[in-house]
Amino acid sequence: MNQLPAASATLVAQAAQATHLWRHARLATLAGARAGAPAGDPAFGWIEDGAVLTRGAHIAWVGPDSEVPAGLQPDAEHELHGALVTPGFVDAHTHLVYAGDRAAEWEQRLLGASYEDIARAGAGIRHTVAATRAADEPTLLRLARQRAASLMEGGVTTVEIKSGYGLSLHDEARCLRVARQLGREGPLRVQTTCLAAHALPPEYAGRADAYIDAVCAWLPALHAEGLVDAVDAFCEHIAFSPAQVARVFEAAQALGLPVKLHAEQLSDQGGAALAARFGALSADHLEHLSDSGIAALASAGTVAMLLPGAFHFLRETRLPPVAALRAAGVPMALATDHNPGSSPTLSMPLILHLGCVLFGLSPEEALRGATLHGARALGLHDRGALARGLRADFAVWALEHPRDLACSFGHHRCTRLVIGGQEIGTQDIGMQDIGMQDTAR
Ligand code: NIG
Ligand code: FE
Repeated sequence: MNQLPAASATLVAQAAQATHLWRHARLATLAGARAGAPAGDPAFGWIEDGAVLTRGAHIAWVGPDSEVPAGLQPDAEHELHGALVTPGFVDAHTHLVYAGDRAAEWEQRLLGASYEDIARAGAGIRHTVAATRAADEPTLLRLARQRAASLMEGGVTTVEIKSGYGLSLHDEARCLRVARQLGREGPLRVQTTCLAAHALPPEYAGRADAYIDAVCAWLPALHAEGLVDAVDAFCEHIAFSPAQVARVFEAAQALGLPVKLHAEQLSDQGGAALAARFGALSADHLEHLSDSGIAALASAGTVAMLLPGAFHFLRETRLPPVAALRAAGVPMALATDHNPGSSPTLSMPLILHLGCVLFGLSPEEALRGATLHGARALGLHDRGALARGLRADFAVWALEHPRDLACSFGHHRCTRLVIGGQEIGTQDIGMQDIGMQDTAR
């Protein structure tokens, strides 16, 4: 990164405190209201004709446009002409750093092979591991940047990026460094997760316990380099057992790192209960989640991370127990699970749609899942809604209502995106100009 001379650094610091007033928006604030909330507590935290004032990276005021504080002299004013504004999406489960593609494997599945057959034959995740190990860091970074730009087109302002296609200390570190570099470059905010316990690399074939020993030994080094915000594992009969995952979690806990888990995706391994026992931030996938798993998540306050992109792409038929999760009060999040093997999508609006159509979420649950609950699944409490004091991360859509965002599918891109109070240049992320006029003073 370039070093700024002292004088410019001061100017940048002052600009960072600039105030922007965004006017005449249909606001889905998600503040205060909950699905099923009593009358008078409007769904979506809805404000029909609203305004948002940002100061620096944060929201200084939100309310009806008619109540904008008198005498306000913002540095810039932006007229939104009734466009929809939502909190920026927090895509809290992605595998964004990798090389290669797996379209051929998808084709094999269409002809009858299963995800498990392909994994057992040594392909699947291991195919991507070989391609990722063979790619240099600039290539991995370039690919990750392109994917990040697509996510931002779909309104994402924070992304979680897992490693898990390196599976050696050297290659896991490279992938996590690329994720960190992407976050340093901005504007997309990045949280990193070490998923070294994703699959058994070929050099450890038949020696899963020895591989888990190695993963536990790598964690302190990766953490010392500042590369890890959380630790994840894949608990499944084609990956690692609950006992092996527990060892990884103990190593994470010893370093003070939060954990999360790919659990109950293809079978019930008791992974959710294991995750809950370690106070996990989230348990992810959950198609085969049991009643006792639901109770464990509820009492631990662990987020249920639903990934309808993988369910759809793998043509799964067993649904996650959404009604029971809802009844138990478990917060449900939604994410893309972007990866080349089970969910090659980069569109959060499409994920909202799939969450509603396939899993039976309401549009409001889907929006909360993609914002507030996604943030919670990352342990972040400073974003995911439009409220005073939270980060000024939001997306503007040429739509009237958030249910429109979840209803029609396959084409939604935001028209403007603000991350940390700064509007992201459309040329950076390829957003279309659809004629929203702006009046900057
Ligand atoms: O979240 N389930 C395991 N991991 C990924 C898939 C990884 C892959 O197939 O490359 C997931 O679906
Ligand atoms: Fe995943």
